[in-house]
Amino acid sequence: MTRGEYQCETETHVLMFPLPAQGHVNCMLQLAELLVLSDVHVTFLNTEHVHHRLLRFADVPSRLAAYPTLHFETFSDGLPSDDPRHGDNLGEHIKQVNLTALPQLREICMEDSGKPRFSCIVGDGIFGRLTYELGQELGIPVVYFRTVSACSFWAYFCAPRLLECNELPIRGEDDMDRMITSIPGMENLVRCRDLPSFFRGTHNGNLPLEPVVFETHQSLRGQALILNTFEDLEGPVLSKIRLHFPRLYALGPLHAHLTSRKAAKTMSSEEKPAASFISSLWEVDRSCMTWLDAQPPKSVIYVSFGSITTISRDMLTEIWYGLVNSKKRFLWVIRPDMVAEQDGKDLPLELVEGTKERGCMVGWAPQQDVLAHAAIGGFMTHSGWNSTLEGVVASVPMICWPYFADQQINSRYVSEVWKIGLDMKDTCDRKVVEKMVNDVMEERREEFEKSTQAMANLAKTSVREGGSSYSDFDRLVEFLKLLGTRQKQS
Ligand code: UDX
Repeated sequence: MTRGEYQCETETHVLMFPLPAQGHVNCMLQLAELLVLSDVHVTFLNTEHVHHRLLRFADVPSRLAAYPTLHFETFSDGLPSDDPRHGDNLGEHIKQVNLTALPQLREICMEDSGKPRFSCIVGDGIFGRLTYELGQELGIPVVYFRTVSACSFWAYFCAPRLLECNELPIRGEDDMDRMITSIPGMENLVRCRDLPSFFRGTHNGNLPLEPVVFETHQSLRGQALILNTFEDLEGPVLSKIRLHFPRLYALGPLHAHLTSRKAAKTMSSEEKPAASFISSLWEVDRSCMTWLDAQPPKSVIYVSFGSITTISRDMLTEIWYGLVNSKKRFLWVIRPDMVAEQDGKDLPLELVEGTKERGCMVGWAPQQDVLAHAAIGGFMTHSGWNSTLEGVVASVPMICWPYFADQQINSRYVSEVWKIGLDMKDTCDRKVVEKMVNDVMEERREEFEKSTQAMANLAKTSVREGGSSYSDFDRLVEFLKLLGTRQKQS
């Protein structure tokens, strides 16, 4: 465990504490940077494992040099240092942190004088109980940041109601297309298969969804709730959530929000343009940018299934055939730990040839830069929430192949509500892949160009001065500063 030696000059000193996974660390760091730019002092707490990877693959030193009021500290997640912390074990990893973190966090949060060091904890909502206990014990107010979509947060929140209305549990495969009717605001929109994956199946007689629903309801005990979304994207759901969380700040898309604030700051001062920093837990391979430079405009489908998804060899083969048979160019991120089993067989010649002619594969890409590249015409994604927002801002139509958690409902919203892509959930067939790639890149290209451009414009407007996310962020900073003043006086 490390603890900083610095003095905090301002009254507003926030402790931020993400779940130790790429998607959560990314957007929490974006929020941390936004806060620091608004004169809020931030201590960002990572597990030792995540911090070690950030030191290897991200821009920690330059970020620290740019922001004297941003600090990193670490704690142990309780696992041995050589544990691979594989995404498929995320549930166990979370359990371990919940079991071991509290005494370490307690120590990090206290001055030697016995007073709390922080005026507020902005905690990852998935650690709802842990953060609440910490704040309660030390007298530090807690604000929750849930890094997922508003629609998935709302579905989790409404799970007890679904049980009461006998809409849960889902009764097997044959029941998957039944419409869910008792989530306010989602009537006749969401089928059983579109609910977050934890609503599926049972484990030892319990729904796997119980821990996440429990943590979601803990957010009610916080002083406020932050979501990485924006009014024009999820307004109807946000208005339902606000009935239970009156102090709700919708600040997204955070990556675009950060870009917008940095640009505004540069314009209003003599300062040189603010740098943007990498937050990767894997080594970024930028060779794909050179490959993209050589491709015609909107000719490439970018394929990436995020930081946690694992797929079987058969699934890999189906997707690969679909991409090659579509005859479109493709850039595919295959993480070193993404394919569950290797069969050692030689690849079919047609895949080798098709990939040599039109494909590029990397272990980890600079995703935001890739999506913004003129050569990209489509995005096959697992519908992780960061990736979805990045696709929205880049105005790229999506083919959604959700893996787990919130991704099942995100993909439904992409296809049926926002109409900016297609939903391929629960199938993995080369013919379907081929057809969807051709639909997005060719057959329905004009239709998607209109809808994605319109949504991208709304996203960018929301994070500019006067936009809904921009104003919500100003209100959040005001609130955090008020909490700081109150803490000082108490
Ligand atoms: C998953 C969830 O789906 C997400 O919604 C949840 O909040 C956290 O767990 P993950 O698989 O990490 O997250 O997906 P996503 O939320 O999309 O985040 C992945 C991040 O990694 C994105 O910001 C993306 O830009 C970045 N990335 C991905 C890269 O930088 N390079 C890559 O090659 C792939």
